[in-house]
Order: sequence, then structure tokens, then C-alpha cells
Amino acid sequence: MTAAVSATETSAPAARLLGWDCVELWVGNARSTAGFLMSTFGFACSAYAGPETGVRDRASYVLEQGDIRLVVTGALGADSPIAEHVRVHGDGVHDLAWLVDDAAAAHGAAVARGACSVRKPWKESDEDGELVLAQIAAYGETVHTFVERSGYRGNRLEPGYGTEHLPPTPVGPDVGLFSIDHVVGNVEMGRLEDWVRFYAETMGFSPMRHFSEDQISTEYSALASTVVWDGKQIVMLINEPAPGRKRSQIQEYLDAYDGPGVQHIALGTDDIVRTVDALRARGLRFMRVPDTYYDEARERMAGVELPWRDLERLNVLVDRDEDGHLLQIFTETLTDRPALFFEIIERRGARGFGEGNFKALFEAIERDQERRGNL
Ligand code: FE2
Repeated sequence: MTAAVSATETSAPAARLLGWDCVELWVGNARSTAGFLMSTFGFACSAYAGPETGVRDRASYVLEQGDIRLVVTGALGADSPIAEHVRVHGDGVHDLAWLVDDAAAAHGAAVARGACSVRKPWKESDEDGELVLAQIAAYGETVHTFVERSGYRGNRLEPGYGTEHLPPTPVGPDVGLFSIDHVVGNVEMGRLEDWVRFYAETMGFSPMRHFSEDQISTEYSALASTVVWDGKQIVMLINEPAPGRKRSQIQEYLDAYDGPGVQHIALGTDDIVRTVDALRARGLRFMRVPDTYYDEARERMAGVELPWRDLERLNVLVDRDEDGHLLQIFTETLTDRPALFFEIIERRGARGFGEGNFKALFEAIERDQERRGNL
């Protein structure tokens, strides 16, 4: 189990987070990645920034569905830090941004508690008011931006964004995703504890659960994982590879992404059968699970009424804990490098993360790893 982590003695109280603001991806071609996320996941584009709106160095598309906001950004020149990020990592998540009531105070508290500042508090303003932002470093080259919106009217992401001539929403069945359930990052072997301590000390997060490598391993590949959260809605998992008979899937990620970073983003739905039916109809591809999975799952879920035929047809996984059960499915990696993927999750009381599915999932991932010659 997770050892208790004590917060650093500091007079600054940890930042109070109001929720996710957005997750920003830095990619090689924002126009096509945004188009892909719109057509397959059913996101709608609500704003755009680029040369047409007076922004010269990047193109950004804001994509929304329910309470989920993704920003997809690409560089417009070779000397952009976005282009460098893409050169090193390929497409990936750059920013896990949180809404706060005071960005300067959140930044000051995190830095006083040991976080590295990426950018001191700064302001962006236009006719709609003023936005205050500040950034700290997370694992790898990932950052957390604190976003203070109280002085900014309207619902645009920030100054520089326009809402005209947006890409039209592609036709397709309604998907029904409504929230970011959790975000998972991969860090190097031996660094898991450091990063759990980082979130405890700098942000006041508490460890929620820990999965040891004995719990999460297959014959070939192993990892350890700890869940930390702010006690309300920001839930972050951190994985590290553990020695196995062959290369851990977490190590494959670290090699492919060239360092730590976000492995998957879990999006919540309240009707996973409808959601996955829609996503499959829109052409999204998912990881496959072995056929034998459902024999084992039926035993594990004894006494729970479930639409087994739909779950098998759609390849949806099931798990239970002391609070209830959950349904989940993982997409194939969205990036050319085997790095970022999404999870779709429906919680029916359960507060876990599908621990009972880890082995089935890893076996599925390993089959793909083997196809790439990386096992
Ligand atoms: Fe997950």
C-alpha cells in the first residue's frame, strides 16, 4: 500500500483547484488532428487561434464535448517550441491545465512547496477582460497551467481566439462524453515515489490507491501505479515500469515518447454502450481483449446485471470494487509513436480504475507490442 506522504512545512496553503480547465496537445498538424478528434470522438470546435485571428506562431483549435475541453495546437514555424516538442516526442499532451480562483497564489504556493516554475504569472487581456495564467513543470516536458477566469467575460478560451469560420461539426451519431475522469502519466523506473511526493507536497494531493507490480503484471511486463487526487475531481495516476521478462509497456512508451508524459486520458460517459457504438460507427479503433476475457469476467461480476451481449460485441471491459462496478474500454494509440491513447469509462458506483482488468488489458497491449516487434 502507499506510504503516507507528509506535506512540506510551508506557510503557503496548497492551491485550491476548481477543476480541469483544458488539456492541450502539441501536434505536427493541428488542423488534421482536430479534424480527427471531431469526426471520431464527436467533439465540436468552439474557437480557433491562428494567423486569421492575429496569432502568428501557432494554430490552435478548441474542442469541446460536455465538460471536456481539449486544445490542439501546432507550430507555424521551425523555431517554435511546439515544433521542437513534436520533433522530440511526436504528438502528445503538453499541458494539463487547471482552473483556479487565484493563479498567482496557486503558482506561488506550488513554487514555495518545491514546484519548478515554467512561467511566472502573466496576464492576457482584450475587450472581454483579463485572464491570469501561470505555469509549473510536471513530469517530462508536461506542464500544469493555472488558469484564473474570474476577470474574463464570455466563454472564449483566451484572447487571440476567434469563433468565426470554425471547422463544421462532422455528421455522426451522438457520443455523449461528459467529463475528464482521470489522467495517467508514465515516469521512469524508480521515479514513481518522487512524483507522488511532488503532487502531495506541491499541490496537497493525497494518495488514493497504490497498485504494486505484483498486482499489475503479466508474465512479460510489469508496472507499478499510484493514484493521487485533490480530494474532489482532479484524479491523476502515475505509472512506472517494473522489471519483467520482457520490456514493460511503460518502458516502451518512455522510449517512444523520449521521456515521461501523459499515457492516457479517461473520458466519462453515463451510457458506455451508446458511446462506444457511436465511436465505432465513427471509425475509432479500440484495443482488443481476448475472447476468453468474458468467461472470466462473468465469474468476476457474478450477481451484477450487465448487457453482456453488447459488452462482448463492443469489447467493453468490466470491473467491480467495494462501492460498485464500472465499464471501460481503451482506444488504440492515437499517435504514430506508441504513446497516447484514450479510455472511455462509465462508473456505476465504483471508484477504482479497472484493476481487475489490468491483466486483460496488458495482454491486449502486449499483443500489439509484439506486432510492432517491441516485446
Ligand atoms: Fe485509466
